[in-house]
Amino acid sequence: MVASRTDSRSRALYARARDVLPGGVNSPVRAMRAIGRDPLFVARGAGAEIFDADGFGYVDYVCSWGALIAGHAHPAVIAAVTAAAADGTSFGAPTQREVELAEEVARRVPGVEMLRMTSSGTEAAMTAIRLARAHTGRDLVVKFAGAYHGHSDGLLAQAGSGLATQGIPASPGVPAATAGATMVVPWNDRDALARALDREAPAAIIAEPYPANMGLVPPAEGFLALLRSCADACGALLILDEVISGFRVARGGASERSGVRGDLVVLGKVLGGGLPAAAVGGPRALLEALAPVGAVYQAGTLSGNPLAVAAGLATLSLLDDEAYAELESTTRRLAEGLRAAAGGRPVSVQWLPGLLTVFFAEHAPANLEDAKRCDLDAYAAWCRGLLARGVYPPPSQFEAWFPSLAHGEAEIERTLQAARGAFEALA
Ligand SMILES: Cc1ncc(COP(=O)(O)O)c(C=O)c1O
Repeated sequence: MVASRTDSRSRALYARARDVLPGGVNSPVRAMRAIGRDPLFVARGAGAEIFDADGFGYVDYVCSWGALIAGHAHPAVIAAVTAAAADGTSFGAPTQREVELAEEVARRVPGVEMLRMTSSGTEAAMTAIRLARAHTGRDLVVKFAGAYHGHSDGLLAQAGSGLATQGIPASPGVPAATAGATMVVPWNDRDALARALDREAPAAIIAEPYPANMGLVPPAEGFLALLRSCADACGALLILDEVISGFRVARGGASERSGVRGDLVVLGKVLGGGLPAAAVGGPRALLEALAPVGAVYQAGTLSGNPLAVAAGLATLSLLDDEAYAELESTTRRLAEGLRAAAGGRPVSVQWLPGLLTVFFAEHAPANLEDAKRCDLDAYAAWCRGLLARGVYPPPSQFEAWFPSLAHGEAEIERTLQAARGAFEALA
């Protein structure tokens, strides 16, 4: 039996929100349209749980889309942010903690000697591309279909027809010429990559090393190493977008876990511990092309914001080897449990420490086209079933679940019980 959950306060807020916010939200996926329901308004979070405006609790697997690796309102993070706020919320001048955060990131992420901080992953990816263009004197960028690097014009390009194509705008308002400076290649497709690079040498190849924006679709064996060697062979920079994987799949992110290093690394989410912070990192020789040392312009009123930096430092201080072992074991237990809960239905589960996707397809996708063939209606119905049973999954097949350090045995049990119920209800 599913206890009935009313959402009258969420519905009232949604009605008001639609009058003043397009679609009632400040970022589209939150509207839950992909799973065919209205959004829940969140009142507060504690540990692994969020509580909606009507007072119902949910085991949360969105966790601010991966920013909250320690869970909601972690006492150490709250204490750090509160103390920082008491000293002033923003100065527009350098502060000691920015230096400490950059030092900590440099200790963790292979190949990172320096950082330039921004407020969002979008800006950090944009800056990485600008650096690559300035460094190489070229314009073209290669990205992979299904990867997301924020909403800047050039990166909102999608594949046209064909296997490796000049990008076309993925949104009205993106100039064709800007999208055309991006070449879009299917993920995990060696031949298409080779054909794209044969045509024209790019400034950069940008990739999510463990793509999680078409659901989690890890690289095929050797694919990341191929990206490294292709970039070297054509004189392009390899940009690893670790906004999701950074500090999550390992202490030093995918750059550590995969052993493949980018020339530039884009970081975000966990870096700001739930407050707005992101960064582009890399060697001094590349980063010092940025103003004021070099001529490449980039700036931000709130970049390196004291509260965000304090939250990031407090979060990273929790992420030791023991924490990563725990996150891995939580994710494994969850992934195996969800697979078992499906009870023989055509469902596959992909996972890495701190990340997983339940695909409504018999075989795990290898690229975006595969992911699009999942049974999206069944996924939507299953998600609605989970919400009705007190579990908040990412409301789209093309996103990853983000278990956190706050997800313990009790939360996993609650999740698996809800998952079994939601699967049974599908039949
Ligand atoms: C891999 C990746 N890169 C970049 C971004 C953009 O980051 P932001 O939303 O902070 O602009 C995201 C956001 O989800 C992301 O997943």
